[in-house]
Amino acid sequence: MKRSLRMAVAPVMGALLLTGVAAPSLAEPTFSSEQVALMASGCANCHGTDGRLVGSVPTIAGRPAAVLETRLLAFKHGEPGDTTIMDRIAKGFTDEELAALAGHFAAIDPVDKDDSNNAQEPQE
Ligand code: HEC
Repeated sequence: MKRSLRMAVAPVMGALLLTGVAAPSLAEPTFSSEQVALMASGCANCHGTDGRLVGSVPTIAGRPAAVLETRLLAFKHGEPGDTTIMDRIAKGFTDEELAALAGHFAAIDPVDKDDSNNAQEPQE
């Protein structure tokens, strides 16, 4: 019993070691703009294109990155409270990915100057 368990685990351990060597350092993760854009594309379903939607779902475009990151980390790690859905969404990302998403949306102008339908200031 013991032996068969060890035999089953050994290849998995080997694979983990191999991927550990190949994976980039977790301490300083960097994401390409393509990677962040891919992660951020799912947010548009609720927060509007580029996070600019104004309404029942809070605007995230153009908000300070530190605020967005704090909120995302609270959704992920905090007690369930003032959240309906973001707790479950935030759990799908690493802390580093949430920081990258916060930076992504903070850098977007909340008013899309090219879209007259969306030319309103976000509500606080
Ligand atoms: C299913 C719809 C949905 C999706 C998808 C979604 N959000 Fe949200 N988001 C919400 C809602 C609703 C809230 C308000 C808090 C709550 O009810 O969970 C919110 C709140 C937030 C807030 C806090 C804003 C504030 O003013 O407190 C941030 C930041 C945020 N979302 C970022 C994101 C990011 C980044 C993504 C993509 C990874 C994302 N959201 C995807 C629905 C969504």
